[in-house]
Amino acid sequence: MRQAHLEWTIQSTALPVVIIGAGPAGLMVANLLQRADVPCVVLERGTREYIETRPRAGMLEDRSARMLERHGLADRMLTESDTHTACEFRIDGKAHELNYSELSDGKTHFVYPQQEVVTDLLRQYLDGGGDIRFEVSDVELQDQLEETPSVSWTSSDGTREQLDCSFIAGCDGFHGVTRKSIPAGAVKEFTHQHGIGWLSILAEAPPSTEKVIYALHADGFAGHMLRSSTVSRFYLQVPVGEDVDNWPDEKVWSELHKRLALRDSDWTLTEGKIIEKRVLDMRSHVVEPMRYGRLYLLGDAAHIITPMGGKGMNLALNDAEVFADAIASYYHHKSTTGLDDYSAVCLRRVWRAQEFSQWMVDLVHRNEQPFLSRLGHARLQHLIQSREAAASFAHMYVGAN
Ligand code: APR
Repeated sequence: MRQAHLEWTIQSTALPVVIIGAGPAGLMVANLLQRADVPCVVLERGTREYIETRPRAGMLEDRSARMLERHGLADRMLTESDTHTACEFRIDGKAHELNYSELSDGKTHFVYPQQEVVTDLLRQYLDGGGDIRFEVSDVELQDQLEETPSVSWTSSDGTREQLDCSFIAGCDGFHGVTRKSIPAGAVKEFTHQHGIGWLSILAEAPPSTEKVIYALHADGFAGHMLRSSTVSRFYLQVPVGEDVDNWPDEKVWSELHKRLALRDSDWTLTEGKIIEKRVLDMRSHVVEPMRYGRLYLLGDAAHIITPMGGKGMNLALNDAEVFADAIASYYHHKSTTGLDDYSAVCLRRVWRAQEFSQWMVDLVHRNEQPFLSRLGHARLQHLIQSREAAASFAHMYVGAN
């Protein structure tokens, strides 16, 4: 769906940008606008403690790490993150390492949990004098198609407030209000249910591996992801809609031991206290265009992707940089090109990431249809045996371009 071309106007009484949501997308935009001297305000539903402790994604692509570095936002990340250069496919108890760094001119992943990214971005924004309102509720958007839209909300002390602005950055995640404020039919929404459930587990257990493990087992996929020296994330393929109560801790560990087992090896899985356990139904969603008038959608508000491939937070950061650059050129060079092109530019990367994530989902999961299961197996053998296939995977996986 095409949107009207944006007219260049400056409304001196309106704040340039209201950002809704203080996740990676919202806080990255806030920092970049601050650096570009474009005033903005961030409205966040949660408390500061909530956003700084909410465990979610954990892997920064090489490209995202470089982006943070370029903007002077990477100091703590570079000293405290772990860099990763290889992953392992564990097929029926046999390990196959894939060194993606070697295949992508030395590019690496940075393991740095999302709450740390958020903590750093928030601190930098506040140190620079940034304006953020926590614990806002009942956020409403008005006049998104007009030159001066407005945003109203109830602040933490119960006062109703309103701000006129020139642009709204919808960075409030999949369940936020900004996408829902768009009238039905004004944008196109693409949804895909993958027919796969994951039991997602966060445990206070030191990692039992130095690299991410994707294990294929006759009973389904198991994943061992890294978060820190004391916390690990695990995934188990389960039926769609599975009840988390069917998975007491002992069953989780025994299933992880079974699916991650390595033949002819003394490798063991270290257990720990399970601190989060939930079922995710694997789904993808994309909104086109990522804009409605002067409302721009970023990150999870515009697209969600399966955790396979670790692209979610990276896409959110990319949207933020494209959007902030476009806003800076609007205010400093009177150019509307960046804002007109924002959606098309971001969607190219979004769809490429969706394709990669779907490919990985098919690669490592047990499929109920034996024919499709065999196809996945053939694809994996090719990945292991062909250097060209592995190099192509490596570039996409590590975010090398
Ligand atoms: N009003 C204000 N804030 C809101 C509202 C609302 N109505 N609804 C949600 N929020 C806030 C949430 O509390 C959260 O802090 O918006 C923020 C959204 O943050 P994320 O969900 O982390 O979304 P985003 O910044 O797009 O980052 C994408 O999500 O794909 C996953 O983990 C992956 O890293 C990726 C991240």
